[in-house]
Amino acid sequence: MEIGGINSIKGELRIPGDKSISHRSAIISSLLKDRITIKNFLFSSDCISTLDVLKKLGTGITESGTGIVVTGCGLSGYTEPSNILEVGNSGTTIRLISGALAGNEFMSVLSGDESINCRPMARIIEPLNQMGAAVYGRDNNKKAPLVIFGRKPLKGRRFRLKISSAQVKSCIMLAALHASGPTEIFQPDVSRDHTERMLEYLGADIEYDGRYTRINPAKKLEAKDIIIPADLSSALFFIVAALINKGSRILIKDVGINPTRSHALDILKDMGGKISISNQRTICNEPAADIEVLSSDLVPVSIETGMIPNIIDEIPILSVAAAAAHGKTVITGAGELRNKESDRIKAISYQFKLAGVDVEELSDGLQINGRKAPVIRGGIYNSLGDHRIAMSLAVLATLSKDRVTIRDSGCIETSFPGFKALLDSVSKENG
Ligand code: S3P
Repeated sequence: MEIGGINSIKGELRIPGDKSISHRSAIISSLLKDRITIKNFLFSSDCISTLDVLKKLGTGITESGTGIVVTGCGLSGYTEPSNILEVGNSGTTIRLISGALAGNEFMSVLSGDESINCRPMARIIEPLNQMGAAVYGRDNNKKAPLVIFGRKPLKGRRFRLKISSAQVKSCIMLAALHASGPTEIFQPDVSRDHTERMLEYLGADIEYDGRYTRINPAKKLEAKDIIIPADLSSALFFIVAALINKGSRILIKDVGINPTRSHALDILKDMGGKISISNQRTICNEPAADIEVLSSDLVPVSIETGMIPNIIDEIPILSVAAAAAHGKTVITGAGELRNKESDRIKAISYQFKLAGVDVEELSDGLQINGRKAPVIRGGIYNSLGDHRIAMSLAVLATLSKDRVTIRDSGCIETSFPGFKALLDSVSKENG
């Protein structure tokens, strides 16, 4: 991908559907024995991995307009797959579908690409085994490929998680739908609550409040159509691009602003970002709004532990904002970033240094010494196969007067097909 010579970002944009909600909409619909229409589904490679796996388990899925129609198999209604279930690069696919598979009495094997098969999986293997499934993984039950022998029914349990992960919590909740009694989950900090909201929307017997979730399997889910808002994590690449490029103004419509995901907007406002939220409403139990952004002079910020799960996917793009904020931004308590599609702490510090940003790698975060109008060097940067690193580098490159090439940018398909075309369509070039 080639970027450079951009002056400002202007226009009204539509961002594709939310990735986390798209995965959940397909997986949860597969657990009903009805037809559900899902609108504004994200057709990215990660979500397509989820659809492919669900089809191999017997779910009916057809494309329809901006979305899909799912004919589910019902609880414990999947059929045993005759081959390995490939999840590609998608952590949400492998972790959430493992929860649903744990309640089906057959054997399945889940595997992914090199990055997925190196990411931590003990965090789902252990709770699923405690619920009565038999799950095994490579490297002494720590990594994928995973082998799952499901059990019906599973046992409901009380979990106190050591890390705050929406993927782990959702894996347990999907297994809990197949249990004989209630399941309770306590987390150290609040993580995204899309699974809770969707299950509540479909009539599940569920209670949740911040770090606590309780789910009772007894109740039948109601088939209702689902509309997915635009992905705030994707919108934030454009929000930051508009903030840091002089003379910019953008309006993004129908964006999800779930409070367990929207803290990056508060951080950017605290940094002096001119961001206004209007037309707030609820779409299928998820808050959404329109977001207007004007270019702004940014100041540094301090980001600490308790906030991290809310902004876990946003630290790369917030680091770009920090590079253009005059002074020292410190991010700590973000060690989980080393377990993502790449080691994001290392990726940011190495690639930003190449670009000329003054950045220091900390064991659990980053220190960025930003400048008001940073000089971003032209040249070749590398995404390391990580979609959010690729898009963050692209936004950083909008500040460069020279041409920047981002290697291995195909990974952007993971979450944001059409990113470059959209960036081109709102970029006003120098001169
Ligand atoms: C996700 C949860 C987050 C996030 C990932 C998507 C989800 O992971 O990083 O991109 O859809 O539940 P963790 O909650 O495991 O940190």
